[in-house]
Amino acid sequence: MTDIILVGCNGKMGQVICRLAENDPEVRVICGVDISGEKKNDFPVYTEFNSKIKGDAIIDFSHPSALTGTLEFAKKTHIPAIVATTGFSAEQKAELAQAAKEAPIFFSANMSLGINLLIQLAQRASQLLEDSFDIEIVEKHHNQKIDAPSGTALAIADAINDISKAENEYVYDRHNVRKKRSKREIGLHSVRGGTIVGEHTVIFAGQDEIVELTHRATSKEIFAVGAVKAAKYMVGKGPGMYNMRDLVAEIQM
Ligand SMILES: NC(=O)c1ccc[n+]([C@@H]2O[C@H](COP(=O)([O-])OP(=O)(O)OC[C@H]3O[C@@H](n4cnc5c(N)ncnc54)[C@H](O)[C@@H]3O)[C@@H](O)[C@H]2O)c1
Repeated sequence: MTDIILVGCNGKMGQVICRLAENDPEVRVICGVDISGEKKNDFPVYTEFNSKIKGDAIIDFSHPSALTGTLEFAKKTHIPAIVATTGFSAEQKAELAQAAKEAPIFFSANMSLGINLLIQLAQRASQLLEDSFDIEIVEKHHNQKIDAPSGTALAIADAINDISKAENEYVYDRHNVRKKRSKREIGLHSVRGGTIVGEHTVIFAGQDEIVELTHRATSKEIFAVGAVKAAKYMVGKGPGMYNMRDLVAEIQM
């Protein structure tokens, strides 16, 4: 049984984790940390970390302002922290890396196993095709999303760039430039509408053939499933920075 300390337990993702844990005999939420202090579930909720809190793994789906509290607790107790919150500043990302020297830290801005597999498949396809195929990424999200392109679309482009023979330029907007695309660019395009949870397609367009890799999220549960898998995976790990690539690699073994 993995006892989870859930930071942001009263939020949308926190509540999805609670529902998931209720149906998983291998995990339970032992307590929550939420600035609201409200008790929505059958476990104690604290407004901040304290010495009464014990557990096997921390899952944090809250707000960037909670990061220091989570990391300080992880450093003091060596309990692994799965940080799923997004929107960190460069300083906070450095704080995460610093904490990983003393505590086991798992960080991923996208906890979906499928997206992380898509990233690896896109890297493999790119290695094979980059010389003769043009690469474009199209992402679709609901009409409430503010940022564009999505952080995940950028993460896919970064992963392709990481293994590319040369640096690629990211091109977001073609409407005001009248020129042919160059070989060394990755186009990123955003569609916004309705209640689309999230869709990412990587298009490899070659001479007379097209390869497309698509991931479609149909509910937020996939992020909670990934975070719970990460919590189980992190139990017993030593200090260091871990991510979905490590988890997917272990599943593939
Ligand atoms: N990594 C992923 O795959 C993934 C997926 C979905 C959401 N997220 C991220 O998870 C976070 C939470 O998303 P949500 O939709 O559940 O948000 P939400 O606003 O519904 O919930 C956030 C919760 O955190 C609590 N909170 C805020 N500040 C806090 C603090 N300083 N200390 C403790 N608790 C605090 C709030 O009271 C609230 O209950 C966001 O950053 C979101 O972008 C990540």
